[in-house]
Amino acid sequence: MVCWDGLLYIAVAACAVNVSLQGEHQRRLYNDLMANYNPLERPVFNDSHSLTVHFSFSLMQIMDVDEKNQVLTTNIWLQLYWIDHYLQWNTSDYPGVTNVRFPDSLVWKPDILLYNRQAHRFDATFHTNVLVNSSGWCSYLPPGIFKSTCYIDVRWFPFDVQRCDLKFGSWTYGGWSLDLQMMDADTTGYIANGEWDLVETPGRRNERFYDCCKEPYPDVTFTVVMRRRTLYYGLNLLIPCVLISTLALLVFLLPADSGEKISLGITVLLSLTVFMLLVAEIMPATSDSVPLIAEYFATTMVIVGLSVIATVLVLQYHHHDPDGGKMPKWTRVVLLNWCAWFLRMKRPGEARVRPACHNKTTRSSLTSVDLNACSSHLANSNMLYIGFRGLESVPYSSSSAAAMSPDSGLGCGHGVGRAGEDEALLPTCQSSLVGSLEHGLGQILEELRYIGKRFRDQDEDESLCNEWKFAASVIDRLCLMAFSLFTILCTIGILMSAPNFVEAISKDYFT
Ligand SMILES: *[C@@H]1O[C@H](CO)[C@@H](O)[C@H](O)[C@H]1NC(C)=O
Ligand SMILES: *[C@@H]1O[C@H](CO)[C@@H](O)[C@H](O)[C@H]1NC(C)=O
Ligand SMILES: *[C@@H]1O[C@H](CO)[C@@H](O)[C@H](O)[C@H]1NC(C)=O
Ligand SMILES: *[C@@H]1O[C@H](CO)[C@@H](O)[C@H](O)[C@H]1NC(C)=O
Repeated sequence: MVCWDGLLYIAVAACAVNVSLQGEHQRRLYNDLMANYNPLERPVFNDSHSLTVHFSFSLMQIMDVDEKNQVLTTNIWLQLYWIDHYLQWNTSDYPGVTNVRFPDSLVWKPDILLYNRQAHRFDATFHTNVLVNSSGWCSYLPPGIFKSTCYIDVRWFPFDVQRCDLKFGSWTYGGWSLDLQMMDADTTGYIANGEWDLVETPGRRNERFYDCCKEPYPDVTFTVVMRRRTLYYGLNLLIPCVLISTLALLVFLLPADSGEKISLGITVLLSLTVFMLLVAEIMPATSDSVPLIAEYFATTMVIVGLSVIATVLVLQYHHHDPDGGKMPKWTRVVLLNWCAWFLRMKRPGEARVRPACHNKTTRSSLTSVDLNACSSHLANSNMLYIGFRGLESVPYSSSSAAAMSPDSGLGCGHGVGRAGEDEALLPTCQSSLVGSLEHGLGQILEELRYIGKRFRDQDEDESLCNEWKFAASVIDRLCLMAFSLFTILCTIGILMSAPNFVEAISKDYFT
């Protein structure tokens, strides 16, 4: 209780001190000023004089830039200054009262509005008090959150600079009764935005003439120039896109036998589409200009699409049916000679395969020659060979037997008898044995020829296949080179074409 009493006492005392010193004069001043005052009256000494209103604004914050609906939302404090002829007093008559405040409804104030407003409530300012000093100088500083229409050009998105106009003017007074004068915009209290850098806020005073009258209608237009900060878009859209387009190049490095070439290409294409949808979500549905990033995505998409087509061609070459025919002459010359030379590609094991191939052909010819020779020799010397076989059973060497046989009568009886027996046997055996052997050998020969031919055909098919496969790898390499070059050129060319690309990169990434 003691405490409460004490506080109350202090408050009353303070009040009393204030009242005793100033309150009386202030009340008198309010009464005197309002005695004959009409807030509808334009406060000028001579009605044919114009009232000068000084106008400025201080930009506190860029709250939102809606690209899709083309709306800029800003937090602004307006600054309006004018001299009210009826709100002047002599300070020596009212000691201690240097300024007074009026609710805005009690005094005249200019009807300055934002022309390019975009909201259901036209005037969204908070109506503050008007501060008046003894020379009648009125300061009116209403704060407000302004939604203004702004043509947002997304041509260079995300490396874009937007210029949004804020046009202020009196709604009803013409230039002869209310002379609007511009003061420089104030950005000292500006709160930095994460997405936009404020570049400058230049202003200009315009005079506009309407058909109705000769009176000019002045307005003050401030332009908020802001640069988009690209770090967010760089990390979330550009770098993934660059990576994806690099992945598209890997399609050409993947071996055709893995069977994943097409699926990799299609996957890359799909992921690009997803990113493209993200971009489309942000952008206004305008056909005035294609945003830089959409252009880049579209180009990348075309590159990836082409790479899928090229991959199909490569696979078609790689798995070419050997029965499908030989490679057309020009394709062979262009791909296997020129392109391979240009890309410094050698056929796999070129140095090794060639001689081996050569050997193979000579060997096969040799064997056939051998076989032929053998067969002809055998056919001619059947008799000899058979005789040979027949005499083999004789205990002594064939040469001695051959030498002995003509004069068998001179040899030993037993031996001669044996020899005679053999000789008697031979003519009967000869015809049947030789015939069947000849037939068997001929069949074997046929089989051998057939097998040889099959191997030769297989080799030929294989070399044909290898040729097609080599052509496929040449195309692969060619595409890798061409697409890498194209991707790099497109990336640099498209992104660098933005007017403030270098500035954006240096400010956003290296600070
Ligand atoms: C009015 O009262 C306040 C609070 O007690 C005090 O600080 C101030 O000096 C007073 N004003 C004058 C003019 O005495
Ligand atoms: C008002 O101003 C006009 C032109 O400036 C002048 O002709 C007129 O005499 C003035 N009236 C008074 C009452 O001062
Ligand atoms: C203010 O009032 C004082 C005394 O009444 C007088 O001397 C002075 O001239 C007046 N000032 C003006 C600007 O009227
Ligand atoms: C009233 O304010 C204006 C603007 O700040 C200034 O030029 C003028 O001198 C002030 N008047 C007095 C009496 O302080």
